[in-house]
Amino acid sequence: MDRSEIIFYLNGQRQVVSGPDVFLPLSSYLRYSLSLTGTKVVCSEGDCGACTVILGWLDSERALSYRIVDSCIQFMYQLDLCHVISVEGIGSETSLHPAQKAMVDHFGSQCGFCTPGFVMALVDLTEKKASYNTTDVKDKLTGNLCRCTGYDAIVKAALSLSDAKVKSVIQNYDQKQMTSEFQALQGDNVSIQAKTQFSTKAFFKPASLAQALRFKSEHPGARIVAGATDVGVQTNKGRANDSEIMFIAHLHEMAAIQIQEASDGTGPVGQLQIGAVANWSDVRSACRTSLPEFAEILDIFAAEQIRNAATIGGNIANGSPIADSLPVLYALNASLTLSSVGGSRQVLINDFFRGYKQMDMKPDEILTNVTIPLPARESILKLYKVSRRKDLDISTATLAIYLEMESGKVTNSRIAAGGVGPVIKRLQGTETLLNGKALNESLLLEAGQTAVREIAPISDVRASKEYRLQVIQNLFAKFYFEEIAKVEVA
Ligand SMILES: Cc1cc2nc3c(=O)[nH]c(=O)nc-3n(C[C@H](O)[C@H](O)[C@H](O)COP(=O)(O)OP(=O)(O)OC[C@H]3O[C@@H](n4cnc5c(N)ncnc54)[C@H](O)[C@@H]3O)c2cc1C
Ligand code: FES
Ligand code: FES
Repeated sequence: MDRSEIIFYLNGQRQVVSGPDVFLPLSSYLRYSLSLTGTKVVCSEGDCGACTVILGWLDSERALSYRIVDSCIQFMYQLDLCHVISVEGIGSETSLHPAQKAMVDHFGSQCGFCTPGFVMALVDLTEKKASYNTTDVKDKLTGNLCRCTGYDAIVKAALSLSDAKVKSVIQNYDQKQMTSEFQALQGDNVSIQAKTQFSTKAFFKPASLAQALRFKSEHPGARIVAGATDVGVQTNKGRANDSEIMFIAHLHEMAAIQIQEASDGTGPVGQLQIGAVANWSDVRSACRTSLPEFAEILDIFAAEQIRNAATIGGNIANGSPIADSLPVLYALNASLTLSSVGGSRQVLINDFFRGYKQMDMKPDEILTNVTIPLPARESILKLYKVSRRKDLDISTATLAIYLEMESGKVTNSRIAAGGVGPVIKRLQGTETLLNGKALNESLLLEAGQTAVREIAPISDVRASKEYRLQVIQNLFAKFYFEEIAKVEVA
């Protein structure tokens, strides 16, 4: 069936949205269309967490799975068949949620603007864990910024909830009713056209990948939206105003993550198959055992609110030279599956980018899958992300070093650097220098000098050209001291 409205639940209440509201950020819809002003907006770009809500959507098991997201960069059209819990849905003036009470008791409500966001993150923490320590709390609050007072009181409030047997908010709502309605409507295509304040917009939510491919062949100019963590920022900042949008993040056919083990025990140990709409939280969990070096980079990829929405396909197709996934994909020689109604083709990531935001992807194609060969048994993989802040910051420069080894010598290498040019740069001169040699200090220092001759960074808001050149050179020294000499380097 085709529908021309969005159906979702807000704090357990059924909502039907059509017309221009479909194109609003959820935070605007809550505040201006429903006068639910508990959700605050500070940055409008996913950075501060003031707008945090809990979002439930049907997972591959067809059950509602709940996670925190930033509502300023979640558009209403992404919420079809979802359950949103806003700060109004966790307690009331006469019956505060324990997280709200803890914030009051420990003086955690400081400026007030960011308090609802902190509270929602804490509620989610109590939903997911019965006991937790300071590290768990700080990890949870990475996506909630305080610019006024500091985190001590908020952390104390959070710790007071550990082991407090807090009653689940989510289970308070009728999961059975929502789930069965969503399951019944899952096979619908949703198609909406509306005149917004500035233009006419069209939206399509396909029921299946086949429908998505058909739509893209008929509407090659349509903007694909997955997590909207890049598109949302562009839209809110007035740098994008797409007239035709196709949402794909709900397509479970494109979300599976599988580890395929090799049986022969020789060459590569296997491969990781990741659907393009798999979000970073799920990829991070899957990589913890199969590709731990990448999982560590994902620990410092944005923050939980963003990782829960943002997808691997969006990170690649956005085409930023500082995208954190790209260096490792280059170094492990990942391949991309691009699909259209005519079939699918494979492109090596090393051949995919042709220039700044220019890709080997046709207008009727969708990136559907990413295949990552896992590191060979005898190999070293090291990934670096350099940024001004450790958490929730975009990279200044990135580096991936992958060396296959035999009898202490490098037999094959792939080294890729980001933030040093318009696209990720394979450092082939440096690779040639290392191939066939045993790793020692002078070789790695020479590798750093060679690498610097292969890159052409620019100065921008994040760093000067000189800083980037120096940092890439230094990373080779860091690699030597940490990985080969096994010395701790700050
Ligand atoms: C606060 C904040 C912090 C961030 N931190 C980081 C960080 O630390 N590291 C980092 O690398 N990035 C970071 N990002 C950027 C962003 O989160 C990632 O690039 C993310 O992976 C994008 O995925 P998405 O699903 O949200 O993409 P979307 O915004 O939905 O789409 C991005 C682009 O890709 C296209 N696209 C999406 N999916 C497909 C597909 N399957 N096929 C074809 N085209 C497609 C879209 O048309 C669009 O042009 C951050 C963003 C924010 C807002
Ligand atoms: S308002 Fe800052 S993350 Fe949404
Ligand atoms: S509590 Fe709002 S900025 Fe610090």
